[in-house]
Amino acid sequence: MIKHVMPAKSLKGELSLPPDKSISQRAAIFSLLYEGISEVGNYSTAQDPQSTLSCVRQLGAEVQKSNGKLIIKGTGREGIQAPVKDLDCGNSGTAMRLLSGVLVGAGVSAKLMGDESLCGRTMTRIIKPLEQMGAYILARNLAYAPLFINRNEPLKPIRFELPIPSAQLKSCILLAGLFGEEKTQVIEILPSRDHTERLLNLDQDIAEGRKVISASLADEIPNQSYTIPGDFSAAAFWLVAGAIQDNAEILIENVGLNPTRNALLDILGDMGADITIENERMEGAEPVGDIIVKGSDLKAIEIDPKMIPNCIDELPVLSVAMLFAEGTSVISGAEELRHKETDRIMAMSKMLKAVGANFEEHEDGLIIHGDPEFTFQSAEFESFHDHRIAMAAAVLSLKGKTKSKIKDAESAAISYHTFWEDLEKLTVES
Ligand code: S3P
Repeated sequence: MIKHVMPAKSLKGELSLPPDKSISQRAAIFSLLYEGISEVGNYSTAQDPQSTLSCVRQLGAEVQKSNGKLIIKGTGREGIQAPVKDLDCGNSGTAMRLLSGVLVGAGVSAKLMGDESLCGRTMTRIIKPLEQMGAYILARNLAYAPLFINRNEPLKPIRFELPIPSAQLKSCILLAGLFGEEKTQVIEILPSRDHTERLLNLDQDIAEGRKVISASLADEIPNQSYTIPGDFSAAAFWLVAGAIQDNAEILIENVGLNPTRNALLDILGDMGADITIENERMEGAEPVGDIIVKGSDLKAIEIDPKMIPNCIDELPVLSVAMLFAEGTSVISGAEELRHKETDRIMAMSKMLKAVGANFEEHEDGLIIHGDPEFTFQSAEFESFHDHRIAMAAAVLSLKGKTKSKIKDAESAAISYHTFWEDLEKLTVES
């Protein structure tokens, strides 16, 4: 599907976001592990969380809807069933990696598959440690889905130092560890999103400045009855769109403010964005608040590579903010972007090139020479079937002089199925 986006004179209004994708997927998986009924409010209807939900059903969870909540009857760790059909993870790396951990832990055999993009993403990072735990995994070309998962020997707990700051990898190993008599420990050098630790209430220690997270059969799985907050990664598009648009004022309600996810707030704040947070509160184990963003003059920033895991999904749209900031901005230490739904460094480069931006692409990031007066006539953007690239290109299109075109625009629905309606709702046309 091609979307045409008109330039905006400004952006004004209020909106509620889609429910958080990462938390929704965890709510479904952890409800399966809980033996009993969890009532999950505001579960995401976007494609990735729906893929996870249907996998969880195939593994034995009973799922019903009542009064806008999902009522999930979990099997508990003992009762997980071997699926009769393949588990289809769609576009979701989180579903594939977290469910692999559960299957290995439970000793349940299954075949995991995904769409073309997911089948092109390496799974070696989970295969190796899961094999150390006793798994037998068959992968296409030893690295890619479809994955056939099996375990014929006893589960071996491991002490695993994360070679990359990945929440999917961390969660995969901890989920397998939850089935072991002895503790599995994951050592984290740079913090990545901690929804798994929070929602499962896992033991955490700091040793020599590193976080050590433990999981074993002795851990009780908490009931997963809570309301999913709005997705901070979805808010990111409006934070940038509002910050770079003259006279913009957007109120975004009920946004997840987990500190391991929201480095973009500090980054945009350091760039000079006018962002206020109100009504901060807790929703279950997660902090939530309302955010107001107004248009302002931005200055360039060099992002500390240590912050990259805490803004990894927001980098495509952040590159748009950098284009309109005074001076030279740097994203480095972000090679992980090359392993997302598409090679996002390549995709961001193509997006910036389409408007004639002044920038350089590097193996691990981008250097962007910004200009608050930057303008372009119109552009034709490729999304590479990547939701975050399609939405970042839409934010950029608002700054053109005439109508721009975005290809594969339907991919926004992977995480944000009302994105195009919200864009129209907020846009004050020139
Ligand atoms: C996610 C973790 C991140 C993120 C992805 C969702 C999660 O991936 O990019 O969109 O839900 O755990 P990595 O853990 O691979 O960095």
